Amino acid sequence: MSSYDIAVIPGDGVGVDVTHATRSILKTAADQFGFGLTFSEVDWGCEYYLEHGQMMPDDGLARLAQSDAIFLGAVGWPEKVSDSVSLHGLLLPIRKHFDQFVNMRPHRLLGGANGPLKKTGFDILCIRENTEGEYSGAGGRVHLGSPQEVAVETSIFTRHGVERILRFGFEQARLRSGKLASVTKSNAQKYSMVFWDEVTDELAAEYPDVTVTRYHVDAMAARMITHPESLDVIVASNLFGDILSDIGAAIQGGLGFAASANINPNRQLPSMFEPVHGSAPDIAGQGKANPIAAIWSGAMMLEHLGEKAAASAILKALDQVSSDTRHCTPDMGGNASTSELTDALISALQ
Ligand code: NAI
Ligand code: MG
Repeated sequence: MSSYDIAVIPGDGVGVDVTHATRSILKTAADQFGFGLTFSEVDWGCEYYLEHGQMMPDDGLARLAQSDAIFLGAVGWPEKVSDSVSLHGLLLPIRKHFDQFVNMRPHRLLGGANGPLKKTGFDILCIRENTEGEYSGAGGRVHLGSPQEVAVETSIFTRHGVERILRFGFEQARLRSGKLASVTKSNAQKYSMVFWDEVTDELAAEYPDVTVTRYHVDAMAARMITHPESLDVIVASNLFGDILSDIGAAIQGGLGFAASANINPNRQLPSMFEPVHGSAPDIAGQGKANPIAAIWSGAMMLEHLGEKAAASAILKALDQVSSDTRHCTPDMGGNASTSELTDALISALQ
């Protein structure tokens, strides 16, 4: 029997609620499909920071490295710890240290979800470069506070970085409909984005079964709203992918549905799975959090680990249960609590 060690970081606020919901769904799926899961849960996050002066212990990354995958709820408690501290002390070091260069987010409407477009026929996989590009952190400021003040922030696009994210996009397109949308702004950004287009063309020769279409990011933003059904796999740089995947989250019904995976496709280091949303301090501790985004992320984790049947069963249960308003949380227009929705999912899985 296969068995997997999962490092679990519930984090702060609703991160804790949705992580516990996800754990029980994953455990149910493991029992149903005959594989083992062990969870090593840690209490890292803002409370930990207030006590220890750091978001995770010194050997935190080394401990995570022992796991087959990492599941994270959400991190942040802006009232007590600045967001730049909480983000740079936990989430970003994990993504960087484990070279999780793919950020992948699925966007489609589940059974009961009601996106603002009320269109059901879209199924988009947004792939964002997660390590360089516009968020490389290269830059500086001089003449601070003076009228001559200058701020420079440089985008970094390396052949290594661009090629590997595009290759991942081609591979995903090959597994799905064979359609890949490559997003740039190569009309305006004539170095980095023209380079991106060139690498796309080079790789296209290796993937004759994939049809690549180039879009400019502004046109893509509009298309995701007007014709989301015309899209399948989208691949984009760090900044563009960040923005487009928020449009994706909006059209699929909001943050309660937006799942994500930070993947190291080489598999020598663990990948991390997390809902897109944050700790939602406004509803934390009230049993109102929608656990679907987290549970969907958990299903992506099982898929990554090779447990595809279990992952599909969870997705099917999500579709079914979210279609019944009795099980819907307040963000979906219902009155159910986090645990009521989770219990309904467990019954559907069994
Ligand atoms: P947020 O995502 O926590 O909340 C935005 C809005 O969406 C709130 O109205 C919230 O109630 C709602 N919402 C979020 N998740 C929900 C769920 N599962 N079910 C129902 N409603 C949900 O973003 P916000 O308020 O900007 O950030 C709060 C904290 O979370 C900050 O400290 C921020 O830095 C952190 N954060 C952490 C992330 C992470 O760990 N990956 C991602 C985004 C924010
Ligand atoms: Mg974002």
